[in-house]
Amino acid sequence: MDNFIFENRTKVYFGKGCVREFLVCEAKKYGGKVMLAYGGGSVKKNGIYDEIISLLRDADLETVDFPGIMANPTYEKVLEGARLAREENVGLILGVGGGSVMDCCKAISLAAVYDGDIWKDYWARNGVIGFEPLPLGVVVTVTGTGSEMNGGAVITNEALKVKTGRDYPACNPRFALLDPTYTFTVPALQTAAGGFDTLSHIMEIYFSKPDEDNVSDDIAEALMRGVIKNLPAALKDPEDYTARSNLMWLATMAENRVIKLGKRTDFQAHQIEHQLGAYTDCNHGCGLAVITPPYYRRIYEAGICKFVRFATNVWGISTVGKNSAQVAREGIDALEKFIRDIGLPSRLRDIGVAEDAPLDEIAQSCNISPGSYKQLTHEEIAEILKSNY
Ligand code: NZQ
Ligand code: ZN
Repeated sequence: MDNFIFENRTKVYFGKGCVREFLVCEAKKYGGKVMLAYGGGSVKKNGIYDEIISLLRDADLETVDFPGIMANPTYEKVLEGARLAREENVGLILGVGGGSVMDCCKAISLAAVYDGDIWKDYWARNGVIGFEPLPLGVVVTVTGTGSEMNGGAVITNEALKVKTGRDYPACNPRFALLDPTYTFTVPALQTAAGGFDTLSHIMEIYFSKPDEDNVSDDIAEALMRGVIKNLPAALKDPEDYTARSNLMWLATMAENRVIKLGKRTDFQAHQIEHQLGAYTDCNHGCGLAVITPPYYRRIYEAGICKFVRFATNVWGISTVGKNSAQVAREGIDALEKFIRDIGLPSRLRDIGVAEDAPLDEIAQSCNISPGSYKQLTHEEIAEILKSNY
């Protein structure tokens, strides 16, 4: 394994009823108002907002609302939230939602206490955070990104057409409340997209060096099998507590840095999806579902042993009478079939990308991952996008 240092400061409360039981004692630790940040309104429809607001009010905690955080949160929205947090002298930001809400809140927690140009100093490049961001707690209502237990935030700068992410340990939420029943109302397409995002995170880490026997790859295989088993079960019965709770913790485990330990990691498919999202505002998990199989078909020969391991240990594919390349390809075929079975699209046209979208320009704007088994050229990325339109 490669050398590593591990730290994760987020305190996680997991399970049915955990918000009712633990939110107030956490929220009371911080002075000032609680800024309640959420998305486009799902939490108002399903009762989560009412439950949280009454818990906070019953505990005499003052709140200020910050609604309307959109999927693929924008830098403009971050600045709006930072202004409100300053004006209202907020002591705690409470993000209630999925990756978009949590990421936006992390970025707000920095911008609210930083006087310089936050885009230039922290999002355009990795800065060194020598100050404490505003405290952040999260209540997860849709699973997938794992943002609840890391310092990562992915923000879209619409003016620059850049969607970029940084993982700053200082931005880890102070606490995360994970009640699987809160995800019962997530629609099928978003359940599938979030579940595939989790699977993608695990694959992006697994398909990278080192390839010698290591704990992280072994855990990654177990997590991938978990997604493959539990995602169809949650789609079949959205109120299947076992499936929803497993998906919730799988998403967290995929992105809480544990399986990254000793690994270089790839994240090339994510780099492509992020730029596709910057130009088209497509759904993150759906974008990954389109990009990932053709990306793996281009690189598998350079990481053949790992792709064979993936086929056999994750998908149960037999190696008898087959050469390595055949087995590896069957693993990618199985992944593609899984994507179809869970109802995710496999073409850009099916995820709202317009026919005249500037695919060459999007490809040129993508970062090239140093951790990939085979580094793509921008032209190859353009081919992936065009041939899967
Ligand atoms: O906005 P509302 O009305 O709340 O609806 C949301 C949204 O439309 C809905 N939803 C959330 N909880 C619900 C619900 N609907 C019904 N019942 C509930 N309980 O779900 C929709 C999607 O929410 P969103 O937060 O956008 O999804 P996701 O969690 O997939 O987050 C996507 C964002 O996270 C970034 C992505 O790029 C994208 O911007 N990522 C963040 C990462 C990180 N911080 O570590 C890593 C990822 O790779 C990813 O890039
Ligand atoms: Zn992702």
